[in-house]
Amino acid sequence: MIIAIDGPAGSGKTTTARKVAQRLGFIHINTGAMYRGITLKFIREKVNLDDPLDIDRILHNTQLNFAGIDHGILYMDGEDISSEIALSYVTENVSRISALSKVRIKLVEFQRDMAQGRDVVLEGRDIGTVVFPNAEYKFYLIADIRVRAARRKKEIEASGEYITMEEVILFLKDRDKQDSSRHNSPLTKAEDAIELDTTDLNIVEQVNYILNIVN
Ligand code: DC
Repeated sequence: MIIAIDGPAGSGKTTTARKVAQRLGFIHINTGAMYRGITLKFIREKVNLDDPLDIDRILHNTQLNFAGIDHGILYMDGEDISSEIALSYVTENVSRISALSKVRIKLVEFQRDMAQGRDVVLEGRDIGTVVFPNAEYKFYLIADIRVRAARRKKEIEASGEYITMEEVILFLKDRDKQDSSRHNSPLTKAEDAIELDTTDLNIVEQVNYILNIVN
Protein backbone atom coordinates (compact mmCIF):
# COMPACT_ATOMS: atom_id res chain seq x y z
CA MET A 1 0.00 0.00 0.00
CA ILE A 2 1.16 3.51 -0.82
CA ILE A 3 0.26 6.52 1.33
CA ALA A 4 1.25 9.82 -0.29
CA ILE A 5 1.75 12.93 1.81
CA ASP A 6 2.47 16.14 -0.11
CA GLY A 7 2.60 19.78 0.83
CA PRO A 8 4.82 22.85 1.15
CA ALA A 9 7.79 23.23 3.51
CA GLY A 10 6.80 23.45 7.17
CA SER A 11 3.35 21.94 6.69
CA GLY A 12 4.28 19.06 9.00
CA LYS A 13 4.93 16.36 6.40
CA THR A 14 8.11 14.80 7.75
CA THR A 15 7.11 14.26 11.38
CA THR A 16 3.62 13.18 10.37
CA ALA A 17 4.84 10.76 7.69
CA ARG A 18 7.42 9.24 10.04
CA LYS A 19 4.91 8.66 12.82
CA VAL A 20 2.17 7.35 10.52
CA ALA A 21 4.71 4.88 9.08
CA GLN A 22 5.80 3.82 12.59
CA ARG A 23 2.23 3.24 13.74
CA LEU A 24 1.37 1.18 10.63
CA GLY A 25 4.68 -0.67 10.44
CA PHE A 26 5.31 0.86 6.99
CA ILE A 27 8.55 2.19 5.50
CA HIS A 28 8.97 5.99 5.47
CA ILE A 29 10.55 7.62 2.42
CA ASN A 30 11.41 11.31 2.69
CA THR A 31 11.81 12.35 -0.96
CA GLY A 32 12.76 15.92 -0.01
CA ALA A 33 15.87 14.50 1.67
CA MET A 34 16.81 12.84 -1.63
CA TYR A 35 16.52 16.13 -3.55
CA ARG A 36 18.60 17.74 -0.82
CA GLY A 37 21.24 15.00 -1.15
CA ILE A 38 21.59 15.50 -4.90
CA THR A 39 21.73 19.25 -4.35
CA LEU A 40 24.59 18.79 -1.88
CA LYS A 41 26.47 16.70 -4.47
CA PHE A 42 25.90 19.32 -7.19
CA ILE A 43 27.28 22.00 -4.85
CA ARG A 44 30.31 19.93 -3.84
CA GLU A 45 31.11 18.96 -7.42
CA LYS A 46 30.43 22.51 -8.72
CA VAL A 47 28.21 21.10 -11.47
CA ASN A 48 27.64 23.30 -14.49
CA LEU A 49 23.83 23.35 -14.78
CA ASP A 50 24.08 24.40 -18.44
CA ASP A 51 26.00 21.24 -19.28
CA PRO A 52 23.74 18.15 -19.60
CA LEU A 53 26.77 15.82 -19.61
CA ASP A 54 28.01 17.22 -16.33
CA ILE A 55 24.52 16.66 -14.84
CA ASP A 56 24.44 13.08 -16.20
CA ARG A 57 27.89 12.40 -14.75
CA ILE A 58 26.64 13.21 -11.25
CA LEU A 59 23.32 11.41 -11.59
CA HIS A 60 25.02 8.22 -12.79
CA ASN A 61 27.65 8.30 -10.07
CA THR A 62 25.62 9.02 -6.96
CA GLN A 63 24.24 6.40 -4.60
CA LEU A 64 21.54 7.39 -2.13
CA ASN A 65 20.37 4.99 0.60
CA PHE A 66 18.19 5.36 3.64
CA ALA A 67 19.17 3.43 6.76
CA GLY A 68 18.67 3.31 10.50
CA ILE A 69 15.56 3.23 12.63
CA ASP A 70 12.60 4.63 10.67
CA HIS A 71 14.80 5.12 7.60
CA GLY A 72 15.87 8.42 9.18
CA ILE A 73 19.51 8.42 8.06
CA LEU A 74 20.47 9.27 4.49
CA TYR A 75 23.75 7.99 3.09
CA MET A 76 25.25 9.40 -0.08
CA ASP A 77 28.06 7.34 -1.58
CA GLY A 78 28.52 5.73 1.84
CA GLU A 79 28.64 9.02 3.82
CA ASP A 80 25.97 9.98 6.36
CA ILE A 81 24.70 13.34 5.05
CA SER A 82 21.57 13.58 7.23
CA SER A 83 22.75 16.67 9.14
CA GLU A 84 24.43 18.47 6.28
CA ILE A 85 21.37 18.39 4.00
CA ALA A 86 19.42 20.42 6.58
CA LEU A 87 21.88 23.35 6.40
CA SER A 88 20.79 26.59 4.78
CA TYR A 89 23.22 26.52 1.86
CA VAL A 90 21.54 23.29 0.72
CA THR A 91 18.01 24.60 1.36
CA GLU A 92 18.77 27.77 -0.62
CA ASN A 93 19.71 25.74 -3.71
CA VAL A 94 17.38 22.74 -3.56
CA SER A 95 14.42 24.26 -5.43
CA ARG A 96 16.64 25.20 -8.38
CA ILE A 97 18.24 21.76 -8.61
CA SER A 98 15.00 19.84 -8.06
CA ALA A 99 13.38 21.70 -10.97
CA LEU A 100 15.81 20.05 -13.46
CA SER A 101 14.02 17.37 -15.48
CA LYS A 102 17.03 15.00 -15.51
CA VAL A 103 17.16 15.14 -11.71
CA ARG A 104 13.44 14.48 -11.39
CA ILE A 105 13.46 11.55 -13.83
CA LYS A 106 16.29 9.89 -11.92
CA LEU A 107 14.86 10.39 -8.44
CA VAL A 108 11.28 9.47 -9.37
CA GLU A 109 12.57 6.20 -10.84
CA PHE A 110 14.54 5.56 -7.67
CA GLN A 111 11.53 6.35 -5.45
CA ARG A 112 9.30 3.96 -7.43
CA ASP A 113 11.93 1.20 -7.18
CA MET A 114 12.30 1.69 -3.42
CA ALA A 115 8.54 1.50 -2.86
CA GLN A 116 7.90 -1.35 -5.30
CA GLY A 117 5.79 -4.08 -3.70
CA ARG A 118 6.10 -2.63 -0.17
CA ASP A 119 3.93 -0.78 2.31
CA VAL A 120 5.24 2.75 2.24
CA VAL A 121 4.49 6.29 3.38
CA LEU A 122 6.14 8.67 0.90
CA GLU A 123 6.29 12.39 1.51
CA GLY A 124 7.21 15.17 -0.90
CA ARG A 125 5.77 17.59 -3.41
CA ASP A 126 4.66 15.38 -6.30
CA ILE A 127 3.98 11.96 -4.75
CA GLY A 128 0.20 11.96 -5.33
CA THR A 129 0.41 13.71 -8.71
CA VAL A 130 3.45 12.14 -10.42
CA VAL A 131 5.33 9.47 -8.47
CA PHE A 132 2.31 7.42 -7.40
CA PRO A 133 -0.84 8.88 -9.00
CA ASN A 134 -2.64 5.63 -8.08
CA ALA A 135 -1.64 5.70 -4.40
CA GLU A 136 -4.34 4.21 -2.17
CA TYR A 137 -4.34 7.27 0.09
CA LYS A 138 -3.29 10.82 -0.69
CA PHE A 139 -3.01 13.67 1.77
CA TYR A 140 -2.12 17.29 1.09
CA LEU A 141 -0.91 19.18 4.16
CA ILE A 142 -1.14 22.96 4.42
CA ALA A 143 -0.64 25.46 7.26
CA ASP A 144 -0.58 29.18 7.86
CA ILE A 145 2.72 30.76 6.72
CA ARG A 146 3.59 32.07 10.23
CA VAL A 147 3.11 28.63 11.77
CA ARG A 148 5.16 27.02 9.00
CA ALA A 149 7.91 29.62 9.51
CA ALA A 150 7.98 29.05 13.28
CA ARG A 151 8.43 25.28 12.72
CA ARG A 152 11.15 25.86 10.14
CA LYS A 153 12.95 28.38 12.40
CA LYS A 154 13.08 25.77 15.15
CA GLU A 155 14.57 23.19 12.77
CA ILE A 156 17.17 25.67 11.49
CA GLU A 157 18.18 26.61 15.02
CA ALA A 158 18.41 22.95 16.01
CA SER A 159 21.07 22.53 13.31
CA GLY A 160 23.11 25.33 14.90
CA GLU A 161 22.23 28.24 12.56
CA TYR A 162 20.39 31.45 13.47
CA ILE A 163 17.72 33.17 11.37
CA THR A 164 15.03 35.79 12.03
CA MET A 165 11.33 35.04 11.62
CA GLU A 166 11.11 37.59 8.77
CA GLU A 167 13.95 35.88 6.91
CA VAL A 168 12.32 32.45 7.29
CA ILE A 169 9.02 33.80 5.93
CA LEU A 170 10.80 35.32 2.92
CA PHE A 171 12.71 32.10 2.21
CA LEU A 172 9.55 29.98 2.56
CA LYS A 173 7.57 32.21 0.22
CA ASP A 174 10.38 32.10 -2.30
CA ARG A 175 10.64 28.28 -2.10
CA ASP A 176 6.82 27.92 -2.37
CA LYS A 177 6.91 30.09 -5.48
CA GLN A 178 9.74 28.12 -7.10
CA ASP A 179 8.29 24.71 -6.18
CA SER A 180 4.76 25.57 -7.38
CA SER A 181 5.62 27.47 -10.54
CA ARG A 182 8.22 25.11 -12.03
CA HIS A 183 7.47 23.40 -15.31
CA ASN A 184 8.35 19.86 -14.12
CA SER A 185 6.05 18.30 -11.51
CA PRO A 186 5.08 21.50 -9.68
CA LEU A 187 3.85 21.37 -6.10
CA THR A 188 0.11 21.03 -6.42
CA LYS A 189 -2.69 19.18 -4.68
CA ALA A 190 -3.82 16.02 -6.50
CA GLU A 191 -7.53 16.26 -7.30
CA ASP A 192 -8.28 13.22 -5.17
CA ALA A 193 -6.04 14.18 -2.22
CA ILE A 194 -7.53 14.89 1.19
CA GLU A 195 -6.46 18.34 2.37
CA LEU A 196 -5.42 18.70 5.99
CA ASP A 197 -4.78 22.14 7.49
CA THR A 198 -2.25 21.60 10.31
CA THR A 199 -2.19 25.22 11.55
CA ASP A 200 -3.99 24.47 14.81
CA LEU A 201 -3.14 20.78 15.11
CA ASN A 202 -0.41 19.12 17.10
CA ILE A 203 1.50 16.10 15.82
CA VAL A 204 -0.68 13.56 17.62
CA GLU A 205 -3.82 15.08 16.08
CA GLN A 206 -2.31 15.13 12.58
CA VAL A 207 -1.19 11.53 12.83
CA ASN A 208 -4.53 10.35 14.24
CA TYR A 209 -6.45 12.17 11.52
CA ILE A 210 -4.56 10.21 8.86
CA LEU A 211 -4.67 6.90 10.74
CA ASN A 212 -8.44 7.18 11.24
CA ILE A 213 -8.94 7.50 7.50
CA VAL A 214 -6.49 4.72 6.58
CA ASN A 215 -7.81 2.34 9.24
O1 DC B 1 10.56 18.62 2.02
P1 DC B 1 11.85 19.44 1.91
O2 DC B 1 11.66 20.88 2.33
O3 DC B 1 13.02 18.82 2.57
O4 DC B 1 12.16 19.45 0.33
C1 DC B 1 13.26 20.14 -0.18
C2 DC B 1 13.00 20.56 -1.61
O5 DC B 1 13.00 19.41 -2.46
C3 DC B 1 11.70 21.29 -1.90
O6 DC B 1 11.85 22.69 -1.77
C4 DC B 1 11.38 20.90 -3.31
C5 DC B 1 12.09 19.60 -3.52
N1 DC B 1 11.23 18.44 -3.58
C6 DC B 1 10.64 18.14 -4.78
O7 DC B 1 10.83 18.89 -5.74
N2 DC B 1 9.89 17.03 -4.91
C7 DC B 1 9.67 16.22 -3.88
N3 DC B 1 8.93 15.11 -4.06
C8 DC B 1 10.23 16.52 -2.61
C9 DC B 1 10.99 17.65 -2.49
